[in-house]
Amino acid sequence: MLVNLFSDTQTRPVDAMRAAMAAAEVGDEQRGEDPTVNALCARVADLLGMQAAVFLPSGTMCNEIGIRCHIRPGGDAVHLHPTAHPITAEAGGPAALSGAVLSAVDGDAGMFTGAALEAALFGAGGRYEPRSRLVSVEQTTNLAGGRVWPLEQLREVLDVAARRGLRAHLDGARLMNAVVASGVPAAEWARGFDTAWITSPRVSARPSGRCSRAAPRSSRRRGATSR
Ligand SMILES: Cc1ncc(COP(=O)(O)O)c(C=O)c1O
Repeated sequence: MLVNLFSDTQTRPVDAMRAAMAAAEVGDEQRGEDPTVNALCARVADLLGMQAAVFLPSGTMCNEIGIRCHIRPGGDAVHLHPTAHPITAEAGGPAALSGAVLSAVDGDAGMFTGAALEAALFGAGGRYEPRSRLVSVEQTTNLAGGRVWPLEQLREVLDVAARRGLRAHLDGARLMNAVVASGVPAAEWARGFDTAWITSPRVSARPSGRCSRAAPRSSRRRGATSR
């Protein structure tokens, strides 16, 4: 047997998965009438402790739409680690699609502390300064080799965000890996975040590249109607 540890994006579906997909009940997804998609969204919302979920075809879309839900016109800033996917691999999408300023917060292994976030925030100062609006974290950290944020460190970051009026976004491309490694349930990891998403191909080797994002209902409406 060949064990490929190069990347979880190279996984392949087993026959039972292909059979389940072929036999899946389908409907008009545009009208919210696809029972399989509806069941998936309900399950993911429940898993993440969110009010609702939407089904999106890629993790990049989950980040882009998640960021768009929070960023207001005119120079809002997203604070995230320099190795985070929206900085390194989304082709400037947050700037192009949301007008967001991506602002790096340094720290070890793809993570940062509450104090580092606090120090990186823009002040209330000049009219030319971006406005700190959102903090985004990756669980697990992709380019840092899949490190799991310690829960306490994450809580510190979320406390700073709450105290300073920031929204919080969780890039959970590999959140379920953190759940397995830590024994901490996904809803506990997602607690305190305004938007969060998980991806199924990396967990289950489904071939479609699809994933689901969960969000409170208000953000969901804005995501669906943003132009
Ligand atoms: C942490 C992280 N976020 C987002 C993405 C984007 O996911 P997708 O390739 O489905 O667009 C990836 C992809 O590897 C990732 O590792």
